[in-house]
Amino acid sequence: MDLIVIGQGYVGLPLAIRAATAGYKVIGFDLNENKINRLKAGYTTSPDVSREQIIKLQEQNKIEFVYKLPSIKQKAIFVIAVPTPLDLNHEPDLSMLKNACQIVAKVVKDDSLIINESTSYIGTLRNLIKPTIDTLSGLKNLIYAVAPERIDPGNKEWDMGNTPRLISGLTNESTQKTINFYEKFCKELKIVSKPEVAEAAKLFENTFRQVNIALVNEFSTIADKFDFSTYEAINAAGTKPYGFMPFFPSIGVGGHCIPVDPTYLSYSAEKVGLETNFIDLANKINLSMAKSVVKRILVKMGGDLAGKRIQIAGISYKAGVSDMRESPAVLLMEELKNLGARLTWCDPLVKSFSDEISIPLDPIIDLGLIVTPHEEIDFSVWLDAKTDVLDLSASPTNYGWPKFL
Ligand SMILES: NC(=O)c1ccc[n+]([C@@H]2O[C@H](COP(=O)([O-])OP(=O)(O)OC[C@H]3O[C@@H](n4cnc5c(N)ncnc54)[C@H](O)[C@@H]3O)[C@@H](O)[C@H]2O)c1
Repeated sequence: MDLIVIGQGYVGLPLAIRAATAGYKVIGFDLNENKINRLKAGYTTSPDVSREQIIKLQEQNKIEFVYKLPSIKQKAIFVIAVPTPLDLNHEPDLSMLKNACQIVAKVVKDDSLIINESTSYIGTLRNLIKPTIDTLSGLKNLIYAVAPERIDPGNKEWDMGNTPRLISGLTNESTQKTINFYEKFCKELKIVSKPEVAEAAKLFENTFRQVNIALVNEFSTIADKFDFSTYEAINAAGTKPYGFMPFFPSIGVGGHCIPVDPTYLSYSAEKVGLETNFIDLANKINLSMAKSVVKRILVKMGGDLAGKRIQIAGISYKAGVSDMRESPAVLLMEELKNLGARLTWCDPLVKSFSDEISIPLDPIIDLGLIVTPHEEIDFSVWLDAKTDVLDLSASPTNYGWPKFL
């Protein structure tokens, strides 16, 4: 069967490339015409896919990038990998997922397999995707499964091939066909009893991180008042050989998963009349971190930041990617600017953001702040100049200055 991947971002592009490499004839579809034109020219949208792979697979006619879906002549596999963000009211925004279903319904042929990889609330496959596509297409024999993506873009150890893949279909047939598909390029498949388990597991994994990060962030405010290092205490706690897993403090959480997915879990709970206090509290603590860190910086800088030259190293939400979605650096920058700091930032991956551009590390400043330590940033500039620097990153690596949080 041919494969059509809906959405060519951090999730959809690596999948399309792996499947094409494994022998599928792939259509990589995205509504963003500019992104498609760039992909055709070999510009990647993911740190997990190289220019060479994109160009080679196109030359071999194994993959085609399109922003308008051509008519599909026979049954195929459709994988949906579109954004599932929050709206302005902080509620799940499934408009892009619904739109993807409408697009699939227009071209799909009977007996096709439709797999959802996008993260969404529990029951999305059964109660939203299937009824939408069945009704709009008028077809009776479409089969459906979920296989939530767990990719950590830029992670060199764990990728789509070696991270175990959760799978569940609405029928035994769809589960089996989904296994047949993923086993061509994923080493380990974990089949669960129904799609709701896979959807919930994906939400719970990221909620687990969100809550633990909030806990360690709160712990770091306690460490500050008692004047000890959070890192030293966490590492000390980590010597317990069982029942403990270390997390490290930061200025907050970012990206398309940790700040977003837990709200999909609380939304699932709300729909059945339950409250989720943990998730709301963790969101609140993580969102308050930028402000609380700036208060600590203010104390260190003698109570006044007006006119102080401050530079941030790395503003994307994590090292190795240019993704600015929900980046907590944005809140930090706002707080510092509100207090009158003369702020610049250096991020060789982001390059430009909100009418500002990345400036190389400047040694002649009042304070440097390490937020997202990309490999591409050479801290020797600050080390050589003995620049006053605070390391706010959650990375366990020591860049030459003690951790501030
Ligand atoms: N980024 C991650 O690290 C990650 C990890 C695991 C799971 N996920 C989940 O995977 C899903 C996709 O995330 P992403 O990071 O790849 O997003 P992304 O923004 O990088 O890419 C999604 C692409 O979908 C396109 N798109 C939107 N609506 C479309 C439509 N109707 N038809 C065709 N294309 C459409 C967008 O133009 C965009 O290029 C989300 O549900 C996300 O939560 C993301």
